[in-house]
Parts: sequence; structure tokens; C-alpha cells
Amino acid sequence: MTTTDTTRTGPADALAGAFAGLFGRHPDGVWQAPGRVNLIGEHTDYNEGLVLPFAINRSTTVAVAARDDRTVRLASGFPDAEPAEFDLDTFTPDQAAGWSAYPAGVAWELERAGVTVPGFDLFVSSDVPVGAGLSSSAALECAVALALSDLTGAGLGRAELADIGRRAENNVVGAPTGIMDQSASMLGTKDCAVYLDCRDLSSRPVPLGLEEAGLLCLVIDTKVSHAHASGGYAERRASCVRGARAMGVGTLRDLGAADLPSAERILDEKTFRRVRHIVTENARVARTAELLGTLGPLAIGELLDASHRSMRDDFEISCPELNLAVDAARTNGAIGARMTGGGFGGSAIALVPVNDADRARSAVLAGFAARGLPAPDVFAVLPAEGARRL
Ligand code: GLA
Repeated sequence: MTTTDTTRTGPADALAGAFAGLFGRHPDGVWQAPGRVNLIGEHTDYNEGLVLPFAINRSTTVAVAARDDRTVRLASGFPDAEPAEFDLDTFTPDQAAGWSAYPAGVAWELERAGVTVPGFDLFVSSDVPVGAGLSSSAALECAVALALSDLTGAGLGRAELADIGRRAENNVVGAPTGIMDQSASMLGTKDCAVYLDCRDLSSRPVPLGLEEAGLLCLVIDTKVSHAHASGGYAERRASCVRGARAMGVGTLRDLGAADLPSAERILDEKTFRRVRHIVTENARVARTAELLGTLGPLAIGELLDASHRSMRDDFEISCPELNLAVDAARTNGAIGARMTGGGFGGSAIALVPVNDADRARSAVLAGFAARGLPAPDVFAVLPAEGARRL
């Protein structure tokens, strides 16, 4: 057995043991799905645009056993997550509360897609930080979707399973998000980002070459909480729809840089800035993927910086803590940095030469301390493979 195999079976055995202790039998299997960071392409997914996220080496693991009735029992290793139980025959989305909405939502959406899901017992554990903008929810949805697809023999493809996860999030959890997070979790491959065109859902892996370039991707979790289900995210989504309608196009993907002067004449000032973010961000994603293929990651720093400025000034989804994290990293060795994910808190990422990582990390911590802010978590992530059975 290789070293890699050993690290894969370790957590599976531990989780299967916890499952057996709780449910008094062995699970049928153990499945794992990663969180993600988005390298670039923010709020473009629900505008049929381009995104370039990658799956990270932080993941959610589920041990699952099918039952011969229609009862679902859900338990987790987290102290503050209550166990839950429901019946698949009587379940409706309004019954789902807290963390159980994610697995319940996936089962419900699979059934709506025509898959007959048996009752099941499930135990979950995760090292994806919750509320940090690293897609802990997509990781849970994708782990459950893959488990139930395997157990039922439904044989759904990875893109279909990502969409089941998105629908669970939209229709059961109640967050109006796009398809990016679940796609990264399902389609990720080691050392690569996922270049996803959210219009036709075509995707391809883009080698990141971080190690060869001597770069680390640092995550700075500001600990500022964000809630997609309410507020700003839905408001930005609505203004994109309004902008597209006013411009006479189906979605903002139909607009390019050449349309911006007329958009500025037609739209109110704020809607114009929202539209300009989406249009310029799509172009930055395409350019980033191109540069990764030619010059490598050392060439993409300015695009990350420009993306952050666009989110800060045009889309207005950053916050003082994210700006501080980005600025401190950028002035202390990072070649590029930006907030990542939905915004209004959560995490920033910084590409940093390995030799400068300690300096960048210390500078970020010192910047937060100097302003009397709670210390952020600063850690490196690696581009990892997507959801799998262990
Ligand atoms: C959240 C959503 C994604 C995407 C990003 C912003 O992570 O879940 O669908 O919209 O925000 O890019």
C-alpha cells in the first residue's frame, strides 16, 4: 500500500468506527468531498459567466448505510450540531433546519430527479471551516450526493450531482447561490483549477503549477461571518438580473467590454458598476486561464488584484477586514490577493512565494491586532481532487 492509500483509509476507518458506535452496525461506505477556494470569477456563475475555482485539501466525510425503510437518521461529530431524523415519504423543505437541511435537501432533490432513495443512516465529520467562505455546505452536499448516487446505483454524472447539490442549496436550504461551489467539489483534480463555463457547463482542468513556481496559496479566514441566504448576495443577484433586462440581454454573459459605454448611458450609476464588475470579471477569468497555460501562476497576480478592486469598489461585496487582509498580504510578499467566495466576510486568498509566507502571515496577524480585530486564521491550501469514495 502506498503512502497516499494509507492517508486515505485512515479517516475512513475512524469515521466508520464512529458510525458503528452510534448506529450499532457498519456503514455501507465512506465518501469524501472537498471545500474550495475560488481563484477568480466571483458572482459570475449565476450570470452564466466564467469561474476558476479549485478544490482544496479540506474536506467533509460521510459514512452512510442504507436502511430498508424510508427513515433518514443524521448525526455528526460536531458538538453544536443536533442529530436529526425524518421520513422521506413525508419530508418537505420547511421541515429542514440547521445542518440537516443539506443532506435532507440532497435526498429530496435526488427523488425529485427520479432517483428512488432508500432510508439511510449518516454520520458526518469535516475539517472545512464553517462560514469561512470555503464552501463547507457544498462539500457536505457533494459527499452526500455521491454517496446516495453510489448506494442507489443511480449512476449520475459528476456535473449532474453538482446540480443536485445546488438545487438542495437553493430549494431546501434557501440560499440563492450558483453552481460554482458544487462544481469545484465534484470536478476538482489534483494541482488544477476547474475552468467552468456556467453557460453551457463545459469544464476543463487548468494546471495551476503553484509548486513549480514556488508559490503557496494562503487562505486568510477573517472570521467575519457571512450569510448567503439573506441580504447582500440575493440583492446583488437581483441587480444583475435588472441590469441584463435593461440592456436587453438574457444574462450579463451576453455583454462584453464593448458594451460598457452604452451600459453607462442606459443604467443608473450603481447598476452600471454591478454590471461592469461582471463583464470585467469574466474577461479576467479567461485571461487568467490563458496565462496559467502560457506563463504560469507568477503572471496572474495583477489579475487577482484587479478582481479584488472590482469587488471592493464596483460590486461592493468586500468588507474592511477582507481589504485589510488583502492589503497586508500584498504589501508583504504576496504577488496577488483577493477576497474569495460570496463576500461580506469569509476569506481572502493570497498567492505568496514560499519564502515570504511567514512574513505575509505575520503581517496580516499584526494588521488585525493593530486594529483591535479578532485574529484571523491564516493557512495554506493545496489544489486537491474532487469528491470520491474512500
Ligand atoms: C457563493 C455561491 C457561489 C458563487 C459565489 C460568488 O460561494 O455559493 O455560487 O456565486 O458565492 O462567486
